[in-house]
Amino acid sequence: MFLIQEIDYGTPESKSEKLVTLTIDGAPVTVPEGTSVMRAAMEMGTQIPKLCATDMVESFGSCRLCLIEIEGRNGTPASCTTPVADGMVVKTQTDRLKRLRKGVMELYISEHPLDCLTCSANGDCELQDMAGAVGLRDVRYGYDGARHPNPGIDASNPYFTYEPSKCIVCSRCVRACEEVQGTFALTIAGRGFGSVVSPSMEQPFIDSECVSCGACVQACPTATLNEKSVIDIGTPEHSVVTTCAYCGVGCTFKAEMRGDELVRMIPYKDGKANRGHSCIKGRFAYGYAHHSDRITKPMIREKITDPWREVSWEEAIQHTASEFKRIQAKYGKDSVGGITSSRCTNEETFLVQKLIRAGFGNNNVDTCARVCHSPTGYGLKTTYGTSAGTQDFDSVEQSDVILIIGANPTDGHPVFASRMKKRLRDGAKLIIADPRRIDLVRTPHIEADYHLPLKPGTNVALVTALAHVIVTEGLADEQFVRERCDWDEFQDWAAFVADPRHSPEATEKATGVPAELVRGAARLYATGGNGAIYYGLGVTEHSQGSTTVMAIANLAMLTGNIGREGVGVNPLRGQNNVQGSCDMGSFPHEMPGYRHVSETATMEMFEQFWGRPLDSEPGLRIPNMIDAALDGSFKGIYIQGEDILQSDPNTQHMAAGLAAMECVVVQDLFLVETANYAHVFLPGSTFLEKNGTFTNAERRIQRVRKVMAPINGYEDWEITQLLSNALGYPMHYDNPSQIMDEIARLTPTFAGVSYEKLDELGSVQWPCNEAAPEGTPVMHIGGFVRGKGKFVITEYVATDEKTGPRFPLLLTTGRILTQYNVGAQTRRTANVVWHEEDRLEIHPHDAENRGVRDGDWVKLQSRTGETSLRALITERVAPGVVYTTFHHPSTQVNVVTTEFSDWATNCPEYKVTAVQVMPSNGPSEWQEEYEELSKAARRIAEPLVAAE
Ligand code: SF4
Ligand code: SF4
Ligand code: SF4
Ligand code: FES
Repeated sequence: MFLIQEIDYGTPESKSEKLVTLTIDGAPVTVPEGTSVMRAAMEMGTQIPKLCATDMVESFGSCRLCLIEIEGRNGTPASCTTPVADGMVVKTQTDRLKRLRKGVMELYISEHPLDCLTCSANGDCELQDMAGAVGLRDVRYGYDGARHPNPGIDASNPYFTYEPSKCIVCSRCVRACEEVQGTFALTIAGRGFGSVVSPSMEQPFIDSECVSCGACVQACPTATLNEKSVIDIGTPEHSVVTTCAYCGVGCTFKAEMRGDELVRMIPYKDGKANRGHSCIKGRFAYGYAHHSDRITKPMIREKITDPWREVSWEEAIQHTASEFKRIQAKYGKDSVGGITSSRCTNEETFLVQKLIRAGFGNNNVDTCARVCHSPTGYGLKTTYGTSAGTQDFDSVEQSDVILIIGANPTDGHPVFASRMKKRLRDGAKLIIADPRRIDLVRTPHIEADYHLPLKPGTNVALVTALAHVIVTEGLADEQFVRERCDWDEFQDWAAFVADPRHSPEATEKATGVPAELVRGAARLYATGGNGAIYYGLGVTEHSQGSTTVMAIANLAMLTGNIGREGVGVNPLRGQNNVQGSCDMGSFPHEMPGYRHVSETATMEMFEQFWGRPLDSEPGLRIPNMIDAALDGSFKGIYIQGEDILQSDPNTQHMAAGLAAMECVVVQDLFLVETANYAHVFLPGSTFLEKNGTFTNAERRIQRVRKVMAPINGYEDWEITQLLSNALGYPMHYDNPSQIMDEIARLTPTFAGVSYEKLDELGSVQWPCNEAAPEGTPVMHIGGFVRGKGKFVITEYVATDEKTGPRFPLLLTTGRILTQYNVGAQTRRTANVVWHEEDRLEIHPHDAENRGVRDGDWVKLQSRTGETSLRALITERVAPGVVYTTFHHPSTQVNVVTTEFSDWATNCPEYKVTAVQVMPSNGPSEWQEEYEELSKAARRIAEPLVAAE
């Protein structure tokens, strides 16, 4: 193993198709027009000395180290800012250039403290490298850097330091923050020798606008901006390429190691989802992997009121298997089931559903996608024929109009948001439909053309009103519809949306969005060029979640915005492998590849391969399992990597269901909230400790590679295999690549996928098969997967969850950048400095009416429950709407969410709960009791010491 060194070409790649040939140091080289001479030289292996250039940002031309001579031109231009030209003859190494470069380096070094031997960047410093490259042997102006500003080290950010005395003012950090991240948090303050990098208004990093993405740290050629982990541990010596385990963007990283210690995570430039960028979570928030809360030994207990007892793996597995066998013998084969995890790999998820279908003999398997994107699967399959988004992330670079509905990309999908922001700065138009003023409504150098601040729960009315404008004003792409969609269905649908009751004026009362805004947004989307729709859980987590997905799909077909780059319908999927867990057959009615359990040919194929009869009746969904537990017919559950008690709605109901079971098995990293009700705890492994694949929101299958041994002893797939064998259904995989081979054999859309191919290509987007051996970046080109695109009539039905005198406000929930879902991982990292608690966002008018001041404790009450948290007064939410996150178990926001759910998929209606807010004195009584109960439920008995 070795440290993977990526080549820095100095300037970004040119996308031009026109080629240009020039001569560099006597050798010809052909590159795309627009390429810099520096990059052209690097393409042929000649590294021109440089300091201010790096290929992640546009060239700047400030350091003057990269000078060249060009035949027929005067002077010595900078190669980073000089574009190639046909027939150009370049010299990169002459006596004059050598002398000039030495002079430049002398000036830099005289301004730099020379403590190289004790510097944290020693051996990983471009300034050091360049001193060597230009042959610097002496500095005429002294070495002490005395004139350089030295205001001391800023160590306020938990993950990196800023040491201005080492800064060479190359501006790479400033440009990375602007161009790569799009946050504009840094400037160069002062002039001449007094120039210094300044976060926001010369504030410490922690107080500035910085979002800790780390792009500036990565760009910095010196130790000025440096990871604290490198300062503590030293420079890494080997690296492994793997995939982030947080969100559905699926960033590729080099895990850089020293021995078996992780030194840092560096976003991989060849990563096709992230192109060398990352957010704070993926780059820095990996400390949970070694947090002291991690459970590393299996544990069992008779009753959930008993303390846990640590046991051997052998005992834990045998006990679990005998419990499931006992329960099935007593209550029938359908009395047990399981839940797969969108945090685990495709291979692990596939094995859990296989264990349930072939080992348990039923289809009682479900996944956390139930509570997030199940409507996406239903809606897109119905309209287009495939349960997945239509584009790759690169596609956004070709978009002219971006319509974001119910998503907050800068917090939820930050790396994709940075790419989107770049496109918006370059001229694309922006429409946002969201009850909150999310960051993208107005952020540096970006302002949404339309913000449609709809009332929670009215998505269908709004999207149908957009369609009304397009149809009635004759803005539809009729040719596309005639060629690609079912024309009869379209006509019925068009007559439906054209009805005056769907006009923006008629729906304004329900949606709260002024009609002229809706009309303007519809015209822009229909006529502005390539229109791309991105949506999130603000669409799906509603009683009409599936209807909204279909309304969105209708809109894209109506305008011909489907089937090419720059357009499409793109669900921004939440968890790292939520797409994969759905693909792998985690739903009770679908086998891997979304084939219904009633399809005879499919079931026969699986039966033959798995050697067991399979049930052709759909099994229980998560809510049905909980209801069945309360009815007494469902008694045992195997939950891999999912904290249903905290993440699912109506917490009391969930707790009662879990408490009614006889064997709850939780396989996880920590004693999560659900484990309070568990009888068996099987310690899981982190993404750093396993091999496998994740599938991101673009259907991109990417390798997860083990960088260290699992501290619990097993990768998660191995634990499932042990359990299956103990249950009497043998599995004999030696490594996850064999599981992927089985997936490929049994699933047509994965038929061409193998670890060899993933290692060779880096990643592939499914479908990947004979027809598309290298995958499918953009779907539905030339025709829909289902044949003709299907327009579905989307009647708006107001949710039963209504505001009234008792509960006059609407609560909607979401997440923030630094935290992740139930927070089990991010709460166990330094990210807590940015978010110690969930806060309730409330508009100043609503706060004033209730006598609530910023930071006050308030009681949040709905008809299902109440909780207390502190208020955050902000105009981000409209009057009548309150908002909170759900990252902290002490808040348990889901005690107030209701049992209402999407009509088609049961996805809970998290985004609409009628609530009242009133001042309170602190946490509710139950919250304090819950803390105590949790402590009791987590007791681990002292190991028995054998008598002497
Ligand atoms: S960490 Fe990211 S957001 Fe913060 S200053 Fe650096 S580039 Fe900008
Ligand atoms: S902090 Fe680093 S990247 Fe930024 S100007 Fe200084 S040396 Fe350059
Ligand atoms: S959390 Fe998402 S955006 Fe952030 S690094 Fe991981 S995959 Fe990328
Ligand atoms: S690298 Fe070209 S001027 Fe700095």
